[in-house]
Amino acid sequence: MSTAALTPAVNTRSAATALVASARLWFGVAVIGQALFLTYILAFYVPSTLSGNFAAWAKNTNLITGYVPGDTAGNLAFGAHVLMAAVVTFGGTVQLVPQIRARAPQVHRWTGRAFMTTAIAASVVGLWMTWVRGTGEGIPALGITLDAVLILAFAGLAWRAAVTRDFAGHRRWAMRTFIVANGVWFLRLGMVVYGLIRSVVGDAMPRMGAFFEVWNFGAYLVPLAILELYFLAQARGGSAGRFAVAGGLTLATLLMGVGIAGSWFGMFAPLLAKL
Ligand code: HEM
Repeated sequence: MSTAALTPAVNTRSAATALVASARLWFGVAVIGQALFLTYILAFYVPSTLSGNFAAWAKNTNLITGYVPGDTAGNLAFGAHVLMAAVVTFGGTVQLVPQIRARAPQVHRWTGRAFMTTAIAASVVGLWMTWVRGTGEGIPALGITLDAVLILAFAGLAWRAAVTRDFAGHRRWAMRTFIVANGVWFLRLGMVVYGLIRSVVGDAMPRMGAFFEVWNFGAYLVPLAILELYFLAQARGGSAGRFAVAGGLTLATLLMGVGIAGSWFGMFAPLLAKL
């Protein structure tokens, strides 16, 4: 066989390897980030909520509403929401681990049911807090509402695909559900990264408030678009397309890593230090 005939085959293999490697890198960094977010939720919210010490939530001055004396329904809704957030964050990550899917399908099935049901319930409670309790308003309220609609729709489609034993479709809808259910997490990471970039570039960049309004939608639409490009490259991408997606995903993972470190040291760890 001539070298000319070998080169495209080698290229195809390297492109496929690069795509898999970039997905693994993303997965490793995402697991670390999810573990830190879960640590924050478990340490900050679970003891105060389960012991009924709702007033302790006030230590988080980033909250829009949080604890309101006398508002029993609103406080219970918020408490339920943060407890469910812990299940969603833990369950979503467990679902992604390939070894669990392959070696413990029963664990995968039950964690999947817990993740989907809790993500749906947390979204419904989130919608209630946004539109009935009055937490949030304007464009950010619309952004999180669209996220809730996508969580409900994608979870339903993932469930239906599993019931009809369409496993390829189930995998795709479950991954989409993971992304939109983590919209609130990506929101925090994006704000941290934008703040850091802006602190270097300066006032030439739009102010934080303007970015926040746009990022309320981007926090889940951008990761969703990256996921779709990954699916496309995996299914029918040529070598160039696969290399391009692998490069883009690696860059996105780098930014995600910066956001994870920044949100831990700048947001979550200082809150845990107040406990
Ligand atoms: C399903 C995935 C979700 C997770 C994991 C999650 C997680 C959280 C967490 C951890 C908090 C506490 C805020 C903090 O400590 O910084 C929170 C608050 C809140 N979330 Fe969610 N959330 C999810 C979905 C939603 C959705 C879909 C909505 C709205 C439709 C929503 C609306 C809210 C509201 C209104 C608050 C209260 C904020 C405040 O009082 O300041 N969440 N969420």
